[in-house]
Amino acid sequence: MAIRIGIVGAGGMAAYHIPGFRAGGAKVVAIADVSRDAAERAAAAYGIPKAYASLGDMLAAEQLDAVSVITPNKFHKPLVLEALRAGKHVFCEKPPALNAAEMTQMAAAAKRAKRTLMFDFNNRARPESVAMMKAIRAGTVGTINSAQALWIRRTGIPGFGGWFTTKALSGGGPVIDLLHMIDLALYFMGYPEPAHVLANTFDTFMGDTRFKGPWGIPDRANGVCDVEAAAHGFVTFKNGSVLFLRTAWAEMNKREEVSVTFQGTKAGGLVRRLFGTDGLDETAVDTCELYRQSAAGKRIDKTLKVKPDETMGRVRAATNFIRTLQDKEAPLNTPDEAIKLMKVIDAIYASAASKAPVRVR
Ligand SMILES: NC(=O)c1ccc[n+]([C@@H]2O[C@H](COP(=O)([O-])OP(=O)(O)OC[C@H]3O[C@@H](n4cnc5c(N)ncnc54)[C@H](O)[C@@H]3O)[C@@H](O)[C@H]2O)c1
Repeated sequence: MAIRIGIVGAGGMAAYHIPGFRAGGAKVVAIADVSRDAAERAAAAYGIPKAYASLGDMLAAEQLDAVSVITPNKFHKPLVLEALRAGKHVFCEKPPALNAAEMTQMAAAAKRAKRTLMFDFNNRARPESVAMMKAIRAGTVGTINSAQALWIRRTGIPGFGGWFTTKALSGGGPVIDLLHMIDLALYFMGYPEPAHVLANTFDTFMGDTRFKGPWGIPDRANGVCDVEAAAHGFVTFKNGSVLFLRTAWAEMNKREEVSVTFQGTKAGGLVRRLFGTDGLDETAVDTCELYRQSAAGKRIDKTLKVKPDETMGRVRAATNFIRTLQDKEAPLNTPDEAIKLMKVIDAIYASAASKAPVRVR
C-alpha cells in the first residue's frame, strides 16, 4: 500500500516535496493551509485531491501515514507535535525549530509516538554531498579535525518586516535560515559533541534596501526587523575538532558562496557552490574535490564527478523520507543531530549577546 501523505503549509518547497514523495511511491492526498485559498491553489497546481484550512481538519478527514510541514519556522514545533500526537510520521522543513528546547521536545514526542521525524536538510542529499559522504565513510578522508562552513549572500535579505526578519517568528536571521552548511559540516565530521562557541552577529545592512534578495518576498510596512544580517563564529567539540562558520544575507562578497571545506587526517575536501547572482543558478559552479599527498609526496587532487542537481537535493531529500518509512534507505538525518545543531545555533546567539565564549550543554 502506498504511503499517504498530507502537506501542511503551501510554502514554495512544496514544489520539491511533492515530486520527491511521489518518486518514492507515496500518494500526496491532501494539503492544508491557514489560507484556504493558498491550499486550494496548491492542490490545483500539483494535482492534490483535497484542500483544508488547518492541519486539524486534514487529520480528522483523511487517513494519513505522514505529514510534511512547510510553514514559517515558528509553526514547526506545534504542527510537528500535533501530527506526532495523531500518530503520523513527519517530514519538516528546516530549521527544525526556533531553538534547542523546542527541538528537544519534538524529539521526545517522536520517540514517545514511535514515529519517524526528519527534516529537510536538502544539502545532505545533493549529489556532491552524497559522493563526499561515501568517500568519508570509505575511510578515504580519515578523521576530520577541522572544517569551515560558509553561506554568504551579498543581496539576500528576504524582504523587510515579514516573518523572516522577525525573530519571534523565524528564530533569527541567516544563522538559522542558512543553517545548511553548518549542518553539512557537522554531518561530514560525524556530528561530534559541541563544547564551546565563540561568535558575533552583525546587523550592518539590516534595513538597507540595497541588500534585499531577488525572491520577491514583499516588505511589510511597520514590520519587525530584529534579526542579524551576518554572523561569524568558531565552535570547538569535545573530541578536539573545530568548526569555523560564516553566514550572511548581506555581505560584500563577489559571488554567493555555499561551501564546506575540511581537513581530515588522510585528505582535505571541498564541496562548494558559487552562484552567479544571489540565488540564481544559470552560472552556478559546483565543486566537489578531495586533496591528498601520495606515498611518494605527489599531490593528488581528485574531482568527485556527479550528475548536476539544480534542486540542490530538495527532491531527493523528500524521497529519502519516504524510502526511510519503507525501510529501503537509512534516514539522511535524525532528531538527535537536529538537537545538537540547534544547540550550536542557540550558542552562536548567546555568545553574540554576551560577547563571550559560551559552553554548550
Ligand atoms: N530547504 C530549503 O531550501 C528551503 C527554502 C525556502 C524555505 N524553506 C523553509 O520552508 C518553510 C516555509 O517557508 P516559505 O517561505 O514557503 O513560507 P511562507 O511564508 O510562504 O509560508 C508558507 C505557508 O504556510 C502557511 N501557514 C502559516 N502558518 C500556518 C499554520 N499554522 N498552519 C497551516 N499553514 C500555515 C502560510 O499561509 C503560507 O501559505 C520555512 O521553514 C523555510 O525556512 C526551506
